[in-house]
Amino acid sequence: MKKHENKPLRVVQVSDSHLFASTDGRLLGLNTEDSLRLVLAKVQREQTHIDVILATGDIAQDASEAAYLRFQQHLAQFTAPSYWLQGNHDITQPILNTLNDKSHLSPCVIDRGGWRIIMLNSSVEREVPGNFQPSELEFLRQALADSKNCHVMVCLHHHPIPMHCKWLDTQVVRNAADFWQVIDQFSHIKAIIWGHIHQESDQMRNGVRLLSVPSTCVQFKPLSEDFAIDDLAPGYRWLDLYANGDVVTEVSRVEGVKFVVDWTVRGY
Ligand SMILES: [Fe+2]
Repeated sequence: MKKHENKPLRVVQVSDSHLFASTDGRLLGLNTEDSLRLVLAKVQREQTHIDVILATGDIAQDASEAAYLRFQQHLAQFTAPSYWLQGNHDITQPILNTLNDKSHLSPCVIDRGGWRIIMLNSSVEREVPGNFQPSELEFLRQALADSKNCHVMVCLHHHPIPMHCKWLDTQVVRNAADFWQVIDQFSHIKAIIWGHIHQESDQMRNGVRLLSVPSTCVQFKPLSEDFAIDDLAPGYRWLDLYANGDVVTEVSRVEGVKFVVDWTVRGY
């Protein structure tokens, strides 16, 4: 990695917190409120400066206003603005009813430091697999056409490519081919990031970095045929976006805490 002269844009991605209306809510036996709290405490300890926080979906498990309000209150401990996009468990209206700044929900763009971050909604309410509405793809195309002097990072909830995890690959964005058809028309996209699969990955496609992130609660096992929980700890991803288009990123997981997961559950 070459040396960079200028300070990058520091982005923190948190995903799939699956909060409930009640702070006692558990996903597969794990208290999602407690694990989010631990992940955000780790962010506080590790990140001395954050420019933007991105929440990439499944913010609530039960789509309750109470869960969205609490998520917003958790993020209020940071001075950086947060931007949210919907996961398959989320519903737009209760988010809009609670979010202080409604313009921070997808579809939206963030223009900072020579970068454009595009937040997209890949979710169909009350359905698990992803699918882009034509209007969402048109938003993407326009946001890319308008930003050719910037570097771009695109964010969505679902994986737009198979992850070789058979049960999760039934949930890939259904019209991913249409998404890639738009993406492939442009050469200034540097990264595409998503949540949903509750596991870390890092690969390249046509010069574009493709990244997924751990959930802030339960982890899923990579490369599994059937539903499988992983014993890795919850975590988050930080990304440094440099003015020359370089992307430096790492995942950080909670350490020293034993997370109790119900291993007998065979699906979610
Ligand atoms: Fe999720």
